[in-house]
Amino acid sequence: MRIRHLIRTTDLQLNEIEGIFRHTDSFSIDTQPKKILENKRFITIFFENSTRTLSSFEIAIKNLGGEVIRLDVSKSSTSKGESIADTAATLNAMQPHGIITRHNSAGASNFLARFTSCPIINGGDGAHAHPTQALLDLYTIRRCFWHKQNSNNDLSYIDDTLKILKNKRIAIVGDIKNSRVANSNIELLSRFGVDITLVAPPHFLYKTRFKTSYNLHDIIDNIDILMSLRTQTERHNNQIYGSLKDYANRFCITKELLGDRDIIVLHPGPVHRNIDIDDYVLSDSRCKVLQQVGNGVKIRMAIMSFLIHN
Ligand code: CP
Repeated sequence: MRIRHLIRTTDLQLNEIEGIFRHTDSFSIDTQPKKILENKRFITIFFENSTRTLSSFEIAIKNLGGEVIRLDVSKSSTSKGESIADTAATLNAMQPHGIITRHNSAGASNFLARFTSCPIINGGDGAHAHPTQALLDLYTIRRCFWHKQNSNNDLSYIDDTLKILKNKRIAIVGDIKNSRVANSNIELLSRFGVDITLVAPPHFLYKTRFKTSYNLHDIIDNIDILMSLRTQTERHNNQIYGSLKDYANRFCITKELLGDRDIIVLHPGPVHRNIDIDDYVLSDSRCKVLQQVGNGVKIRMAIMSFLIHN
């Protein structure tokens, strides 16, 4: 049986994603999910900080009856000079059923996969990819629009994602250039036919085939979804903007910008309050930040099941 890694969103075909979403829907209905990861052990090793991704993977595995061993990088032998290839080979020799990792270098997960015989799941690698974040974002969008289109709230069946997302328009706002969340979302959303506009100051954009804008006011009346991103200061070699306050003056999602428009607002977190999104919008029902977090656990349950049982 071939090992299924999840390094980037392109590792999954559209029909596989649809299957993962349907499995995720079932966790909304079942109060007690089946213990399909019973007797399976997973290692989490995060070389970069995380709140959401690390904890939601660990909860997801435990919800399905699996065991998690968290390797604390600050106490691991990487601090004694062991290479990450040797760390990966060492962990693999303990025969885990999967390793979930995060690293500040783009390509790290792909590199680790060369030294293991179990699935590697990328929890974020540098500015390259964050596939499970993009999947949970897409799932959240799908659920929001399904609810808008169906009033009876019967979640036992949800139409296919392509149909739900037909003609939907998103603006992805912020530090596009340094964001693995942007990269993974652009790949995934475009495959599902979502119309994408990238909104940022020029220093946060790259050359792209997608529409771009430097001004939120120019696009606000032509979108259904706003995805705000954090300024990735940890990936800037030098300060390439005046101040976060200057940035916020033009790119913060505010009460005034949103008005009474029927737009959903997403953010992968962590949010810079009143820089990325203002306090008012963060507590508005159109803002789905905490729904994204909740969906993150269920999506990761479905992804772990998929990778282990396919
Ligand atoms: N969205 C996300 O990756 O958040 P964490 O850094 O907290 O995992």
